[in-house]
Amino acid sequence: MSIDIDIDINTSSPLSRAYANRRPHTSPIPVPQRKALLPVRIFWRIRQFVRGVVAHVDPDEMLEVSRALPKGALSRFCEMPLDGQRHSLNVLYSLQAAGWHDPDLAAAALLHDVGKVAGDEAGIFLSPWLRGPLVLLDTFFSAWMKALASDAPTDGWRYLLHVHRQHPAIGAAWAAADGCSELTCWLIAHHQNRPDHKPLDKREELLALLYWADSRN
Ligand SMILES: [Fe+2]
Ligand SMILES: [Fe+2]
Repeated sequence: MSIDIDIDINTSSPLSRAYANRRPHTSPIPVPQRKALLPVRIFWRIRQFVRGVVAHVDPDEMLEVSRALPKGALSRFCEMPLDGQRHSLNVLYSLQAAGWHDPDLAAAALLHDVGKVAGDEAGIFLSPWLRGPLVLLDTFFSAWMKALASDAPTDGWRYLLHVHRQHPAIGAAWAAADGCSELTCWLIAHHQNRPDHKPLDKREELLALLYWADSRN
């Protein structure tokens, strides 16, 4: 499958190579109808957990992040715990390795989970130890989780449920306030939505790519 899209290059970042430099033959092709097998998804989750526990970020990687994000968004990225930064960089690298160097997509890859930082307001750190159970709860007891979630930071763990569920919207609002592009904010806001149809335009294609890279990291 080949989809022609037109992407404006709006930064001098090395992440923003011209669209012509993309390697279409190696690019991932999101197939929304196909869901990875359960053992594969369990493997990805375990790998994500281990990577989170032993996470580190090199100074040269931070330099790359600083080139990809507006100044305000860079501060926000730095507020993320180390494992969150590592996960975001791994998502970015998956996209780059597959030949995708769109600057709006790169910024979204780096910031897609930044909204989880809001959990700090409740005084509860969203560590890798908490994140896994939250994902399981959301998968198997979604209605229960929704009923218990509270948007008041004083409600402690109930606010944490709210942050877990609403982190795409929270992160998108922060990204907008920090000067990210409209497309980046849209990608962040929708990054948890599993694509259920073939991408119809550029932004849906980028969203499918972000979902693909996020689910593998
Ligand atoms: Fe997320
Ligand atoms: Fe993520």
